[in-house]
Amino acid sequence: MDEDVFEKYRLAGKIATEARNYGAGLINSGVSFLEVAEKIESKITDAGAKLAFPVNISLNEIAAHFSPRHDEDIVFKKGDVVKLDVGTHIDGYIADTALTVEVGTHKYDNMIKAVDAGLDVAIEMMKPDVNLSKLGQAVQVEINSYGFKPVDNLTGHSLKQYVLHAGMNIPSVPDFLNKSKPKVGDVLAIEPFATDGAGHVVIGAGSNIYLCNRNLRSKIVRDNRVKTMFSKLVKEFRTLPFAERWSNNIIENNDNVLRRLTFLGLLKHYPQLIDAKKGIVTQKEHTVIITEDGCEVTT
Ligand code: CO
Repeated sequence: MDEDVFEKYRLAGKIATEARNYGAGLINSGVSFLEVAEKIESKITDAGAKLAFPVNISLNEIAAHFSPRHDEDIVFKKGDVVKLDVGTHIDGYIADTALTVEVGTHKYDNMIKAVDAGLDVAIEMMKPDVNLSKLGQAVQVEINSYGFKPVDNLTGHSLKQYVLHAGMNIPSVPDFLNKSKPKVGDVLAIEPFATDGAGHVVIGAGSNIYLCNRNLRSKIVRDNRVKTMFSKLVKEFRTLPFAERWSNNIIENNDNVLRRLTFLGLLKHYPQLIDAKKGIVTQKEHTVIITEDGCEVTT
C-alpha cells in the first residue's frame, strides 16, 4: 500500500475514533438519538473527513442498522444497551468502528467485556494468510467463556476505496467454507457481536439507511421526476450508504421518493438486524490494516 493511502486510512481512523468516543459520552437518559447522530456527524465533517455511512444507533435486541429519521423523537432511557457504529473516510479510504454503551446501569458489563475480549483475540491472531475459520472459532470460544453467544450470521468485512463491504467476511464463529486469506495491505473491519438471545439475527423494519443501486442507472423509469431524484442521490452518495435525514435535505417529497425508488429496486433500504429471540446484543468494532507480521489498528 502507498504510504499516502496508508496515511489517509490512519487519518480516517483517528477521526472515527474521536467521533465514536465523543458520541459515547453524549449518550445519556433523556438525550435524543437525533441529537447524538447529528453531533457525531458534524464532529466528523468539522475534522475534515467525510461520512462513510450514517451514524448507526442500535438499541437492545437490535444488533445493527438503525439511524434516526430527520423527525425522530426517540430518546435514550436508563438501562438501554446502545451500539454506536461510526464510519468516516478520507478520499474513500474508510474507517469503521463501534462500541456498546449501557445507559445508567451495569447489568450488561460482562456482555460488553465479552465482545471487547473477542475483538482482542481476533486482532491478536490477524495476519497475512490467517485461517479465518480458526480465527472465528477463537472469537466464539472467548465470547462463550463469558457465558454468551456470538451472533453467527453477522461478520466483519473487508474495505476498499469507496466500498464498505468489499467481499471478504471475518466470522465470529467457525466458518469452514470461508477460504479467504487476508494479504498485506488488506483493510478489514472486525466486529464481533455477543448476545444472551438466539445468536443469530433476523431482519426487522426499515433502518432509514439506503444505498443507490448504481447498476440500474440505465433502468427505464417512466416518471421523470423520480428519475431526476435518483440521479441526484447517485451523484451525492455514489457507492456509500446514506440516511433518510441526508436525502431529506436535497430532495422534495423525500418519503414518497425513497419508497418509490426502493420499490423500483433503484435503492436498497437496509433492514434492522434483530436477535431472533430478542436477546440483548453487544458489539465492538475496529478497522485494521494487514501488515507483514500482524495488523495495525487504525481506530
Ligand atoms: Co461498523
